[in-house]
Amino acid sequence: MNTKELIAAEIAKVVPELEQENIQNLLEIPKNADMGDLAFPAFSLAKVLRKAPQMIAADIAEKIDASNFEKVEAVGPYINIFLDKSKISADVLGQVIAQGSHYADQNIGNGRNIAFDMSSPNIAKPFSIGHLRSTVIADALANIVAKQGYKPVRINHLGDWGKQFGMLIVAYKKWGSEEAVKANPINELLQLYVRINAEAEEDPSVDEEAREWFRKLEAGDEEATALWQWFRDESLVEFNRLYDELGVSFDSYNGEAFYNDKMDEVVDILTEKGLLQESQGAQVVNLEKYGIEHPALIKKSDGATLYITRDLAAALYRKRTYDFAKAIYVVGNEQSAHFKQLKAVLKEMGYNWSDDMTHVAFGLVTKNGKKLTRKGNVILLEPTIAEAVNRAQAQIEAKNPNLPNKEAIAHAVGVGAIKFYDLKTDRMNGYDFDLDAMVSFEGETGPYVQYAHARIQSILRKADFTPSADATYSLNDVESWEIIKLLQDFPRIINRASDNFEPSIVAKFAISLAQAFNKYYAHTRILDESPERDSRLALCYATATVLKEALRLLGVEAPDEM
Ligand code: ARG
Repeated sequence: MNTKELIAAEIAKVVPELEQENIQNLLEIPKNADMGDLAFPAFSLAKVLRKAPQMIAADIAEKIDASNFEKVEAVGPYINIFLDKSKISADVLGQVIAQGSHYADQNIGNGRNIAFDMSSPNIAKPFSIGHLRSTVIADALANIVAKQGYKPVRINHLGDWGKQFGMLIVAYKKWGSEEAVKANPINELLQLYVRINAEAEEDPSVDEEAREWFRKLEAGDEEATALWQWFRDESLVEFNRLYDELGVSFDSYNGEAFYNDKMDEVVDILTEKGLLQESQGAQVVNLEKYGIEHPALIKKSDGATLYITRDLAAALYRKRTYDFAKAIYVVGNEQSAHFKQLKAVLKEMGYNWSDDMTHVAFGLVTKNGKKLTRKGNVILLEPTIAEAVNRAQAQIEAKNPNLPNKEAIAHAVGVGAIKFYDLKTDRMNGYDFDLDAMVSFEGETGPYVQYAHARIQSILRKADFTPSADATYSLNDVESWEIIKLLQDFPRIINRASDNFEPSIVAKFAISLAQAFNKYYAHTRILDESPERDSRLALCYATATVLKEALRLLGVEAPDEM
């Protein structure tokens, strides 16, 4: 039972007029700590009981069993309830110390799978900041649901199919060189792609040629397949370098191409169920009854399949292969119409599990307040990450020049800074990519939280403190109470983040916990001799444990020294 439930249950015993749940919803958190931890307003009872709220409050405060609380008092129309800090802190600290990083683990998921469609960059194209957001947000969500007892399946649905590969093959055969591609795969392939598109504008035969090469590729032609495979492999070498930097890995790289031989089934089922209609030679599914104006285009007039056809095949394949409890697509908000169509077509096909699919969208990133453009305003990820690491290293150099292992720590701080800044933002909001703000040790940043964790580790080292499993640690001062309440809230934070597919809830929690600790540290002489010293250190230990775990969920490392 959480504290709110506990309080509501006690009040319900003396207020039979209201349901316990109702009481729980009425409970307020007072603005000021000397008005208690929670307050119950008696207004809503005035009508029922035909008494002044002040009198009702006094009456309830009198009757309530106060043995569970530090104090219960009526102030005007409110009943203010003060929780038993000693008891609750002993309880919470005991739990965190006993369970360590497993504190707040849950079994809601019961081992069921959740499929994450994530990252999914396009072969032979640069990895965009949108792909970075998808990677980082989905990886955090996967960690979060794993903590709830689900099994996340991380799927990189690579954009490795489509007519553009026909274009690329034509361009490569015309102008390409193996060495140039090997030296700088994505950049070189992109150049080829841009050049052939320009040529196609002038010369319509290029388009026809590309179409022909893609047809060959679809049919498994040896030369086409070999070139395609090579472009894919070279691109993946680059992408994997980035994934290594970010510390993200995948369970599957089955991208669009994987579904090349699995789309006939989709078309067959749609035909069988009478869902396909012809529209200007193309095959479409009408979705008007779902309030979707545009029909889903399944097959073009020349027989070519589309992005959504492959996503339909992928959904079927994933349901069969993983029997997912949920399928989460972490993809930019600009694709929301696509995912609405995808779900609606599956629903039309009679697959009620399409209700378990969610498009987890996110907003756009800007730079210097301006939209990113293909030319000009761009963020090149690898150099940007390197720069973040450099800046982190410079700050570490200034703060702690004798730190061993500086490079590794600077890496954890630099990469963590970029990830954390992304994750602390409500995902639907975009943000401005501001490296200075990201890597700063001040403000609501990754380094700020990491630094709080490292500071605690240094205190614990100084005190040579390890908590004992049999000891009872308890505190009843106001400063530590702020921390205890946060620690106690951690399991609910995880569930809220999961329910809303919102890692920012965990990131904001980590910031609050780091801030509460820094306040405590400024106010309390933790290491001074006192009967409470061990309990204070236990509080430090528990705070570090939960900070580290919150950062882990976000995919951010927590070095012991900084
Ligand atoms: N490759 C696509 C892009 O870069 C994203 C794919 C998202 N996932 C999906 N199942 N459609 O825009």
